[in-house]
Amino acid sequence: SKDRNGIEQVILRNNRGASARVSLHGGQVLSWKTERGEELLFTSSKAIFNPPKAVRGGIPICFPQFGNRGSLEQHGFARNRMWTIDKNPPPLPNESNAKPHIDLLLKPSEDDLKIWPHSFEFRLRVSLAAEGYLSIISRVRNVNSKPFSFSFAYHTYLSISDISEVRVEGLETLDYLDNLYQKERFTEQGDALTFESEVDRVYLDSCNTVAVLDHERKRTFVIRKDGLPDVVVWNPWEKKAKAVGDLGDEEYKQMLCVDGAAVEKPITLKPGEEWTGRLELSVVPST
Ligand code: BG6
Repeated sequence: SKDRNGIEQVILRNNRGASARVSLHGGQVLSWKTERGEELLFTSSKAIFNPPKAVRGGIPICFPQFGNRGSLEQHGFARNRMWTIDKNPPPLPNESNAKPHIDLLLKPSEDDLKIWPHSFEFRLRVSLAAEGYLSIISRVRNVNSKPFSFSFAYHTYLSISDISEVRVEGLETLDYLDNLYQKERFTEQGDALTFESEVDRVYLDSCNTVAVLDHERKRTFVIRKDGLPDVVVWNPWEKKAKAVGDLGDEEYKQMLCVDGAAVEKPITLKPGEEWTGRLELSVVPST
């Protein structure tokens, strides 16, 4: 189907009625709903659906640069480009083609190669398991004759009841780089992470499962990742929310970004090599 700007979107639906919507603009997941039709991803009411800018919400893909850690535009260009449907993707080991899925492909344009002179093929598979799990698999292949390095994040905007009611588990005792303090390195001291002001951090070398507990909605997001050592946690809070044009002043309360990422140590691919980064999101009832 097409959105009102004529951009193609693909809707995945499993046999129990859970669904996901993926835009060819950015390869961005824009919606993920439970079988009861509850939306699990946040999208701003002020989101702009006009390319090239990425939509404020869902899961934009940060590639080949996370944030401003390099010479490229913030979060790299992949989220701003039009992707194509990959009709004949190379097989994915341990992945069933039986679940609803879509394969997308991004290759650099001539203009992209001027700002980032590395030929790559980026294959994205988004699928929805029978249980409603959302799975995203990225494969980046170096099709150049020289090595290249990149950083990466699945910038996942979770929809939450109230930022004061949620906590993140799985990051205890980890070191993190704090973007609010010149990327200085700190060590997490507390138990679960809770929120009472702006947070913009890269937690380093986390284990592969992180949980986001939403006390009010009595549900827990479980984020499983593979090939992605770091976890970015971002909430803009009041002041920054007002400064972000495509975010409502109060909407920071309903969103929390928890990203599977590879930021601190860039990923390097030799010619012909391929990297795989997987994210699996699920939601379970909790008390
Ligand atoms: C976060 C960064 O991941 O993304 C923040 O750590 C940034 O610094 C935020 O503000 C949003 O970025 P953008 O480019 O989508 O507005």
